Amino acid sequence: MPESKKTKDTATESAELYHPSKEVIKAAHVKDYDKLYKESIEDREGFWAKEAKKLEWYRKWDKVLDDSNKPFYKWFTGGKTNIVQNAIDRHQKTWRRNKLAFIWEGEPGDVRTMSYHALNREVSKFANVLKSMGVRKGEIVTIYMPQIPELPIAMLACAKIGAAHSVVYGGFSVEALATRIEDANSRVLVTADGGWRRGKITDLKGIANQAIERSPTIEVCITVKRTGQEVYMENDRDFWYHDLMGLPIASAYCDTEKTDSEDMLFILYTSGTTGRPKGLVHTHGGYSVYTATTHKYVFDIKDEDRWWCAADPGWVTGHSYLVYAPLINGSTIMMYEGAPNHPYPNRWWNMIEKYGITILYTSPTAIRGLMRFGSQWPKRHNLETLRLLGSVGEPINPEAWKWYHEVIGGGRCPIMDTWWQTETGGFMITPLPITPLKPGSATKPFFGNEVGVVKEDGTDAKAGEEGKLVIKAPWPGMARTIMGDPDRFIDTYWKEYAKQGWYKAGDSARIDEDGYIWVIGRIDDVIKVSGYRLGTAEVESAMVSHADVAEAAAIAVPHELKGNAIHAYVILRTGVAGNKALAESLKEHVSKELGPIARPEVINFMESLPKTRSGKIMRRVLKARAMGVDEGDLSTLEE
Ligand code: WTA
Repeated sequence: MPESKKTKDTATESAELYHPSKEVIKAAHVKDYDKLYKESIEDREGFWAKEAKKLEWYRKWDKVLDDSNKPFYKWFTGGKTNIVQNAIDRHQKTWRRNKLAFIWEGEPGDVRTMSYHALNREVSKFANVLKSMGVRKGEIVTIYMPQIPELPIAMLACAKIGAAHSVVYGGFSVEALATRIEDANSRVLVTADGGWRRGKITDLKGIANQAIERSPTIEVCITVKRTGQEVYMENDRDFWYHDLMGLPIASAYCDTEKTDSEDMLFILYTSGTTGRPKGLVHTHGGYSVYTATTHKYVFDIKDEDRWWCAADPGWVTGHSYLVYAPLINGSTIMMYEGAPNHPYPNRWWNMIEKYGITILYTSPTAIRGLMRFGSQWPKRHNLETLRLLGSVGEPINPEAWKWYHEVIGGGRCPIMDTWWQTETGGFMITPLPITPLKPGSATKPFFGNEVGVVKEDGTDAKAGEEGKLVIKAPWPGMARTIMGDPDRFIDTYWKEYAKQGWYKAGDSARIDEDGYIWVIGRIDDVIKVSGYRLGTAEVESAMVSHADVAEAAAIAVPHELKGNAIHAYVILRTGVAGNKALAESLKEHVSKELGPIARPEVINFMESLPKTRSGKIMRRVLKARAMGVDEGDLSTLEE
């Protein structure tokens, strides 16, 4: 295949513009972005209605957009659909019934495949199991699992019966799991004995047991046997998944609940400015339409594709683009349990070759991590089946972009750098395969979306000028609220630009002269470590739960591999001396409470922390000092 064309484009941030090849353009679903974008903005509801009609509905909607109670927008009101109707049920009526839904590889090398037919049976069986446990419509089931097929099966089974799921990332630990169970008031927890990570077993059931001790709401815990070690199971509370799935009650026939468009599909917790994570609510109708449409157009999805989204289902990327969108689009989905470099750094490249993967969607951190091992690892493999690549989670640095493009994509695969959030449900700013690319820019808004970069006073920033990223109009995939806290939903996202009715993303960005959007990073207390989202407040509260710590502040400092690393500043209790051993034990403590991703890279013992006169820690000052740059305006600093 021909290499994509590069031209010099000196007027913009990046010197190069990468044009897609004729083959890519020929294959693409959308050939004219500008025209369709214009139409979608002029008649937003018309655009989304047209896309929604491509899905099945038990009952058609009365209204595409109900904006009578802003910012609590509703989409496709009066309509009845269930995401499972489109993700599984409708495929049973076509040849796709025999198509592979999942190809799964465990870290030890075990392989499982599942057709849409088999997926339907497994999901129906588990849906019946949940029903037999008394799970009802509207109830929230917490799922805490490794990346094994039972994870999407459990999610889909909840959705099928109209219950909502709350998936807690399997890399999180006791504290994070317990607070999420509590907030969701979950009665049922689905977990596994363990998972494989770098040749070791993760102790999921052990952590789950500790979390249950702190969460009195859990009555039933269902455990998938994955790793087989001895685990503690309590009579009347704990059940093995395989035992339940073997009971007559687990019939492979189960009606899909005819949910309303606006019925809750899931909540997903994400970090914000306070220690308490917020459970963002997504619903059946709008989310189905939004994820399926973005996936199809951005990744030019065809029936022949083998789609690999290498994210964990515990994060929104896994929800939208590992599970729901690709199933709605009838794709064959690759899923892998373990570490990318286990047992060798060619693990991913080997799987791409072995399974003939056509599209890889991953994070800049993963790319940087694999790039570090050198090009000889991918070069051992035939990666010619790949036709498109994707990136998500953090800005991708041009060096990683170019390596991904050249070495993995053979110079022929455009990279879809998709900017979005847990709150947005799906891609908001993204190229299409036909878009000329600039490494490091997520390029243009998706159809229907009006994106702005604005200054403090709400006026548009000039070309090239940094400002706050806002979304100026509603979209079907948007989160509906924060569970149990609608005021926080307004305060966090809608208050600052209430007059204009804009959504504040919490990121800073620039738009260049060609209208390309460059996302810079978070401007709030959210930290992106290896593309994972954490809150400084979560890390701080984990730190102060250590017996020796009086006060703590956490900041993000740029890190070559992880994008950002956590640096913590700690004031110890009187009489405790800071030393290397204590620093290590603090790191270990955070890791144990929250999970290994939250482990601080650096711990600094302090006599005092820079604070405003009203007592707020000035993280900005700590960050400036850590990075050796000017501390900026210190007029509010306490003496
Ligand atoms: C960041 C992940 C630059 C951003 C889907 C956003 C990105 C946060 C990109 C949301 C990208 C995500 N370029 N930054 N392509 N994609 N981000 O909720 O800071 O885990 O606000 O959703 O990730 O993180 P979340």
